[in-house]
Amino acid sequence: MFCQFPENFIWGVATAAAQIEGVAFEDGRGASIWDVFSRLPGKIKNGGIPDICCDSYHNIERDVALLRELGVKAYRLSFSWSRILPDGIGKVNTAGIDYYRRLLTALKESGIQVNATIYHWDLPYALQVKGGFGNREIIRWYLNYASILFDNFRDLVDYWVTFNEPIATYVGHAKGFFAPGLTDEKYARQCIHHLLLCHGEAVKLYRSMQLPGQIGVVVDVWKHYPARPDNADDIASAMMNNEIEGFGMFLNPLFLGGYSKELTAYMERTGLTPKTEPGDMDTICQKLDFYGLNFYNGLYDNADEQHAAAEGGNFQDRPEQHLEAVYDVLHMLVDKYGIDIPIYITENGVAQDDGPDREALLKDEERIAYVSETLRHVRRAMDDGIDVRGYYLWSLMDNFEWSAGYAARFGLYYTDYNNLRMIPKKSASWYHDVIANNGFRISAN
Ligand code: BGC
Repeated sequence: MFCQFPENFIWGVATAAAQIEGVAFEDGRGASIWDVFSRLPGKIKNGGIPDICCDSYHNIERDVALLRELGVKAYRLSFSWSRILPDGIGKVNTAGIDYYRRLLTALKESGIQVNATIYHWDLPYALQVKGGFGNREIIRWYLNYASILFDNFRDLVDYWVTFNEPIATYVGHAKGFFAPGLTDEKYARQCIHHLLLCHGEAVKLYRSMQLPGQIGVVVDVWKHYPARPDNADDIASAMMNNEIEGFGMFLNPLFLGGYSKELTAYMERTGLTPKTEPGDMDTICQKLDFYGLNFYNGLYDNADEQHAAAEGGNFQDRPEQHLEAVYDVLHMLVDKYGIDIPIYITENGVAQDDGPDREALLKDEERIAYVSETLRHVRRAMDDGIDVRGYYLWSLMDNFEWSAGYAARFGLYYTDYNNLRMIPKKSASWYHDVIANNGFRISAN
């Protein structure tokens, strides 16, 4: 059977600045919270630091050649705030502007659409020192940064994303295993409230500038289900993970105009309610042009089993795959959150553990199986009428996987960190064919 996608379906791949660019301290760039956090002992697997990564800063042509080789229609990337504004505010680093202009121009000349994220986890360290997202001033800082991007790249970006996965900011302030490495839940809740306001204000600014293109947000959904549907503890665990510490904390305010009743009750009970001002929720809940879903897995909670927070954040301690969950998640977006705008799968992919056997890593059958299985369920949801317009595979090449450092390889291309050469894995030619045929054959078993 052939799994066929509609003619205008947008096939792409995704990356993020802090994970591929490198050149952390040259050409005027300021430090980000990840540059600082990664240097704290024990925070990153095998002590990886993002100083060089894939050195994409010096390799625009190499990266664009890979994208052309794959035949992607779109590339999802992010801007590094501290490359544009080394101190987060104030003086603009023209070398940073120039770098992105060259990259975006090369993409345009190759006929590749650009989906660009304004903020993908890498706050300038200079702003963290001033309180970061915990300081309501962040709204002004973020708007200043966004307006510089809008002004400079208005002609080169097709899709703007205000934030990628705001959960990372929660984790970084409440759980400690992401930058900036704090463990203060009250502060984390305040940070999230301010982050959501940054989003809303940026959308308002974007509208007022009447820019071409579209603007949206990316929220990852790791939906938890009770492993035993009748077990009260499993139900409570899934609720906690979805509403209190998961996607509900963002989707509710972004699309329904307020914190959920579960989260509100929880924050009141625990004294964690953030400080708000009148009108905040109206600011946060802006009409968007599209929604980006990052989907990696569905999770089944058994309250009798302990699941430690995963290294890297992506629940890599739970090897079972429940990729069929994407079908339910897409329905939930429409049914529960009333999302009536086009949806893009802005990330989906699977990691391989690094190891000495490169040949084995290049034969990544498990990635092909994972992606095709996810896509099959996405297609089912589309058959039901859910408006999914595109799919971005995470990631173009192996890169700096946050707390997992260089130990988790997510790429279609294998990154040889000794010489920064990119070697196609089996999945690269498979994905090339998917794009060329606008679909793929589903294997019989
Ligand atoms: C993030 C990426 C990350 C990927 C794989 C997503 O949560 O947006 O930056 O590399 O998952 O873990």
